[in-house]
Formats: sequence, C-alpha cells, structure tokens
Amino acid sequence: MKNSFGNALCVTLFGESHGDAVGCVLDGIAPGIKVDVDLIQTEMEKRRGGKEYTTPRKEEDVPVFLSGVKDGYTEGTPVCLIIRNTNAHSADYSKFRDMPRPGHADMTAGYKYRGYEDLRGGGHFSGRLTAALVAAGALIEGALAGKGIRIVSHIESIGDVKDRRFDADHPEIDALNGKDFPVLDEEAGEKMKEVIRKAAEEKDSAGGVIETCVAGLPEGIGEPWFDTLESMLGHMALSVPACKGIEFGDGFGLAGMKGSEANDPWIPEDGKIRTASNHCGGIVGGISDGMPVIFRTVFKPTASIAKPQETLNRKTGKTEVLEVTGRHDPCIAVRAVPVMNAVSALVIADLLTQRYGNLWLGETK
Ligand SMILES: Cc1cc2nc3c(=O)[nH]c(=O)nc-3n(C[C@H](O)[C@H](O)[C@H](O)COP(=O)(O)O)c2cc1C
Repeated sequence: MKNSFGNALCVTLFGESHGDAVGCVLDGIAPGIKVDVDLIQTEMEKRRGGKEYTTPRKEEDVPVFLSGVKDGYTEGTPVCLIIRNTNAHSADYSKFRDMPRPGHADMTAGYKYRGYEDLRGGGHFSGRLTAALVAAGALIEGALAGKGIRIVSHIESIGDVKDRRFDADHPEIDALNGKDFPVLDEEAGEKMKEVIRKAAEEKDSAGGVIETCVAGLPEGIGEPWFDTLESMLGHMALSVPACKGIEFGDGFGLAGMKGSEANDPWIPEDGKIRTASNHCGGIVGGISDGMPVIFRTVFKPTASIAKPQETLNRKTGKTEVLEVTGRHDPCIAVRAVPVMNAVSALVIADLLTQRYGNLWLGETK
C-alpha cells in the first residue's frame, strides 16, 4: 500500500481531496537546490482550477514547506511540502458510496480500503493530489533547467482535433513559453477549445493527448532492466489519475513501419554523436541517446459528468440513473499538462541522481 516512487530520489504522496491538505515528501534530494518560489507558483497557476476549460473549484494552491528548506535552498534532508485544501464542497459526494460513479474510483477504492476510504472529492484518487506533484516537480524543474535540461508539454489532441507534433529532432520548445492553453498551432487550439465547450454544454466531457519533450538530457540515463528511462517514465505517467496510455517516439505507429524506416542512424553533429531521425523518442535500450526524449500520454474523458448515466444502486441492488453534480473538469488533459512536466522532472532527477550522485543537482556553497 505504498505511495512512494523513485530510488535515489523518492517522492511519497499523501492527502485527500477534501482533507486538511495534500502534500508530498521528497527524500534523497540534493542540498543546494534553489527554491524558486516564482517558478513554483507559475506551475501551480497552470494546474489550478477555476479558469476557463477547468473545474470551477478554485484553490489558492500555495505550497508550504514544512521541512528540508532553509534560506531559500534545499538542505538535503527530506523536503515535506503541503498545500491546504480550502475550497471543499463535501456534500456533493455523499451519494457515491451507494451509487458509485462509472469511471471513477468510488467502487474500486471500496474493494481495497473496505469502506474506510474518504470518497469526498474523489479522496486519495483525486486529481487534487497532483498539486503536490506539481509543486515538487517545479522545484526539481528549476534545478534541471540550471543543468540545461528543459521539460515542456503541449496538448497534442482533444477529441479528434490535433495539434502539430513536436519536431522530434529540434522541438519548438520556446513557442510554448507561458501559454495557458499550450499548443503549437493556435488554430488547432481554438478548435480544441470548441470541442471542450461543446462537451461541457452537453453535460459531458472530452479526452485528450499530451506530448512531452525532455530536451538536453545527457546520454546514458536509464537503469536497465526494470528502471529504464521508458519504464520509469511509463510507471510515473500511468500513476497520474486518468492517464491510460503512453507511447515513446513514433510509438504505436512503429507497427506500420519497416526497420529501414524506423531505425535512427547515428551521425556526427557539432562534435557530438546524434541520430539523423528520432523515431525511438530519444531512448534506445531503455537509455537516453542524447536526442530529445519525446513521449505522448492519453487522458480519458472526465468520469464525473452531469449527463444522466446508469449505475448500480448498491442499496437496492438495481441499476438507476445517476447525474453527477459537483465541480469537475470538462477535459482533464488541459490541466494535466503541468502535471506531466512535473512527474517527468521527478523521474529524470531520480535517474540522474542514481548516475551522478546526490550532490549533482544542487549548487555548491
Ligand atoms: C489534474 C487532474 C484533474 C482531474 N479532475 C477530475 C475531475 O474534475 N472529475 C473527475 O471525475 N476526475 C478527475 N480526474 C481524474 C480522476 O482522478 C480519475 O479518473 C479517477 O481517480 C479514476 O482513476 P483512473 O481514471 O486512472 O482509472 C482528474 C485527474 C487529474 C490528473
């Protein structure tokens, strides 16, 4: 029943949507990482609800560091951070114990926690916990940026509307800077917003795909067999609520290619070894090859929809119509963009720490 992930840098996640707070502990973190409050707040703001295309639940989302930080830098001891829950409407959730929402964890949480689980706001299964991951990830993203490693994501598709994909060799990272609704093609972005608007009007929800790029990652990162770059990123991504799949590089598209098309030839470039293409998404043998690491994650349409749907009434033993009230995201993929950046940063930092040691990410006094 562990809620911890990572080997050299381990994150332990805790909290419930309508409990006092959500938070995490980062153990194994380097001393001397600057706590860039502005960067952390910027990432928190991107994830926060209460904006167009997101849940109306609006939280202040200010992370409080309870330990491991002094004078604006990490100490190297465990960092514990919490984010208070201040805007919970718990009455909205009381009926889901008897009538579990299809697609949400109300039923399966009961199988596991035997009725002791807190179902308010989705409890421990809520996307709310990703606020803690975003705060921790932003702290790490700052340190990674200092080492020339940048992580960025965009909305690759919503419904059947598609954005351009990253140029796999030279991704246009700067084009996404500071965007609230990050897409490479603004016209596609407007169409995506329309899909979300329409789904919300119909009391329904929309799914989407996020594409993430890790640029500047040194070659040689990944721990075969079981903690390869792919397996670690995959493990972490699929732990994010509503994420149902991940593909690296050309991913499932590789099935339709020949070896001669899919192979990435090694070439010299500016005194370094690179590959002429990047169909494998910057990872070969589970180890980074020095090219941009590119992967896509799919987020299902939000389970909690106001549109009437059938579910089991566990009291009567019959199926009945359920209309989910409460405040929900019409499209989770939009809010999951900073989450994917954050969890990727945590994975990358863990693997870098394993390779270069615990001091590498911090500054020296
Ligand atoms: C950022 C974020 C926000 C979410 N918001 C909602 C929401 O408003 N309503 C909802 O039903 N699910 C939401 N989810 C997804 C549920 O937490 C998730 O679907 C549920 O726990 C079941 O898990 P599964 O979809 O991974 O099987 C959100 C997930 C994330 C990452």
